[in-house]
Amino acid sequence: MKPFFAACVLVVCTHSAQAETLLERGRYLMESVVACGNCHTPQTPQGPKPGMELAGQPVMDEPGFKAFAPNITPDKETGIGTWSDEQIIVAIREGKRPDGSIIGPPMPFEVYRYMSDRDAAAITAYLRTVPPVKNKIPASVYGFPLPPAWGPPVKKVAEPDTSDPIKHGEYLVNALGHCTACHSPLVKGAPDLEHQLGAGGQKIPGPWGMAVSANITPHKDGLAGYSDEDIANAIAKGVRPDGARMSPPMAYWYYKNISASDMKAIIAYLRAMPPKPSPKS
Ligand code: HEC
Ligand code: HEC
Repeated sequence: MKPFFAACVLVVCTHSAQAETLLERGRYLMESVVACGNCHTPQTPQGPKPGMELAGQPVMDEPGFKAFAPNITPDKETGIGTWSDEQIIVAIREGKRPDGSIIGPPMPFEVYRYMSDRDAAAITAYLRTVPPVKNKIPASVYGFPLPPAWGPPVKKVAEPDTSDPIKHGEYLVNALGHCTACHSPLVKGAPDLEHQLGAGGQKIPGPWGMAVSANITPHKDGLAGYSDEDIANAIAKGVRPDGARMSPPMAYWYYKNISASDMKAIIAYLRAMPPKPSPKS
């Protein structure tokens, strides 16, 4: 079943899951598992800053690496209001701007390239409806060269197979949610998705101090002892089985809106991942 989103964007408010429009799909994704706003919307300890949705903010500040997530509202001067739909989709999936320049990390291009054509179009449709905000964001500074491209051009990406919860979950976790981009250790600055997928141990500094991503594989270092409810509470509420609050920058403010069927698929996939030990620190 497709998640039902209660917004009435068309003349008629239908209450049938099948009738979900592209825009409804885009809004649901942005407010839940995709959570572009976790990087692109200024965050406060109380969650996303009101009136500033997708208006940009600094996201990383380390020696030789100062990344700003740009303003991606439709403002024509300081946002992406002059970009075509196609240009926005290429920026998301290939990390290339309309002028041909390469967009840098930590935007997770290594996984967004697997986003389906329909979901990329849905997110783009939603971006068009965000209130434009005038907010000039500085350029990022990278103390290392960016590659000429993040991979071959993305052609057609079909819809995921949602009849199989594990395959559906794999798409939600690896492509849409970029969960494994945070939950895999860095090797030469990039998440090791090939050998240590989900093993955790990535150190993420920020205003919250130093967060270390958890092992989310079924290994005993990871989620082996967790019930389905424990996993859902960690993702959607940011609370551990012992009741302790979890640290940012995981996107709890957005993940609380993940639909029950998507959460079930996410858990099915996490349980089916190859178990990996946590990296030795
Ligand atoms: C982990 C943080 C992160 C996430 C998640 C993220 N982005 Fe980004 N994004 C960035 C950063 C950082 C840049 C700028 C990098 C640079 O300066 O080269 C960027 C750049 C962009 C740009 C280029 C804008 C410009 O003016 O150059 C677009 C468009 C964009 N992101 C859209 C999205 C969308 C849509 C999503 C969700 C599907 C998303 N981003 C998710 C961090 C993120
Ligand atoms: C921006 C980085 C980031 C993203 C994206 C992210 N996480 Fe996390 N996650 C973390 C960090 C950091 C922790 C540890 C928090 C702490 O220790 O307080 C964590 C903790 C967890 C835990 C708790 C594990 C435990 O040992 O208690 C689970 C489960 C989890 N994440 C699953 C997910 C899933 C599923 C997604 C995608 C929908 C996701 N995460 C996306 C950074 C991230």
